[in-house]
Amino acid sequence: MALNTTNPTGTEAWKNLQNHYNAIRETTIQELFQQDDTRVEKFNLQWNDFLLDYSKNNISQNTISLLLELANSIGLKDAISQYFSGEIINKTENRAVLHTALRAKESAVIKADGQNVIPEVYEVKNKIKKFSHEVISGERKGYTGKAFTDIVNIGIGGSDLGPVMAVEALQFYKNHLTTHFVSNVDGDHVNEIIKKLNPETTLFVIVSKTFTTQETLTNSETIKEWFLKSANQEDIAKHFVAVSTNIEKVTEFGINPDNIFPMWDWVGGRFSLWSAVGLSISLAVGFDNYDELLNGAYEMDEHFKSAEFDQNIPVVLALLSVWYNNFFGAESEALIPYTQYLQKLAPYLQQATMESNGKSVGRDGKPVNYQTGTIIWGEPGTNSQHAFFQLIHQGTKIIPTDFIGYIKPLYGNEDHHDKLMSNFFAQTEALLHGKTEAQVQAEFDKQGIPADKAAFLLPFKVFTGNKPTNTILIQKLTPKSLGSLIALYEHKIFVQGVIWNIFSFDQWGVELGKQLANSILDEINTKTVKNHDSSTSFLLNHFLKNK
Ligand code: F6P
Repeated sequence: MALNTTNPTGTEAWKNLQNHYNAIRETTIQELFQQDDTRVEKFNLQWNDFLLDYSKNNISQNTISLLLELANSIGLKDAISQYFSGEIINKTENRAVLHTALRAKESAVIKADGQNVIPEVYEVKNKIKKFSHEVISGERKGYTGKAFTDIVNIGIGGSDLGPVMAVEALQFYKNHLTTHFVSNVDGDHVNEIIKKLNPETTLFVIVSKTFTTQETLTNSETIKEWFLKSANQEDIAKHFVAVSTNIEKVTEFGINPDNIFPMWDWVGGRFSLWSAVGLSISLAVGFDNYDELLNGAYEMDEHFKSAEFDQNIPVVLALLSVWYNNFFGAESEALIPYTQYLQKLAPYLQQATMESNGKSVGRDGKPVNYQTGTIIWGEPGTNSQHAFFQLIHQGTKIIPTDFIGYIKPLYGNEDHHDKLMSNFFAQTEALLHGKTEAQVQAEFDKQGIPADKAAFLLPFKVFTGNKPTNTILIQKLTPKSLGSLIALYEHKIFVQGVIWNIFSFDQWGVELGKQLANSILDEINTKTVKNHDSSTSFLLNHFLKNK
């Protein structure tokens, strides 16, 4: 079986949505609230300790019905069952997409290529558990007999962004080990990390699904060279472990086969933190917390698989995103977590979303004639309020924004938390209502501002409001709720890709730059600039002359 190849714009549902959009485009969200003050009761979903309020959107019940009609006519139900059951839905790479199997229960039977993958998944999980315990407890030691104090994750893209985001997010649950991340091929990055390390007490986790990625191999070689300045070749076995599908290349690098944590080609890089790619998460917070992260994702998987579409948080968020992207012409979405712990969530979701859905060819092999992949960006609140919120409030662009907040703070500092959360609620309220001319004028009158000055200032101080937001309010930031949150966005991405009729699980677009970089590197090494466009030749010659 394969995902169907329906062009969404050819469906009856799409045409109905277009007509509906034409009819309601001038209606504001403020008006929708005035028309119905019980609106929030219709547009909120509660699941586990998550609350989604999506009432502050430019939607009516008719909008939702039409969006659901679109999901149904595109065959979303069938697509979800193909996704979870290991069908080859990543057709251009001829692979199943089974990151969800990594968080399934041990009793599950999920097949890739006719083979149940669960026994292998649990074998690797048990290996992660044992290894994490040995490192954290100090039982496993470095080459001079000292316990490990530092962990360095060497990887890039999906082999870095997931672990670095989760370790940062779960800092509160961290143990004594200090975790570092080296990703960029920029030598200054690796050197800044190296200078903090003691080779005797540092464990290096090389993470590369392919073990061919230039950045990761270069950084690993540099680190190995530095390590061998104080240790011997045979000490590598104690200090270097690898996570990869490419066992041959890992062994060539000199890593002891016992220290290889396998993964599988049915796990996409940007969805791989649930596999052994998450080893540094397990080392940083302990296996039990890591397992809770997986468990939270599992629970979201169950919700996504079984809830009716109108009760299904990932489906509803994906449909709203399609509504704004394809009918309102919104190009980007902002993501504002009101917790500093989630400062790496936006970069993580940038890869997950944009590498997945940044496609312009449909599953039928033809160029699409509509917009796909949204641009994702964001920073934690309240910092972001003092940085780019001006544009969201008063700029010319429509930027649907997700606000993610927690009811309980982790350190229990109620004073800070109440201030943080009052900003959280105030922002979505301000984005909805804005400030009318009459309100601004009333403020001027109260302040006694002279009429000529007030007349000049008035248009600048008016906020139109009518800015769409979703509010996701979660009880507490725990490994489990983080797992559910990440899985929620993974499934949102999947639903969008299904509707947009694209292949979400390949990434051919990143290949060309890699190929060109390799041939330009040869030219730099041999100092011979070959045939390029005049701009690239000019830049290369300037670089070589001044280097
Ligand atoms: O940049 C493309 C990409 O293939 C990502 O999809 C992936 O996460 C990253 O490179 C790293 O790849 P690897 O884990 O094979 O080193």
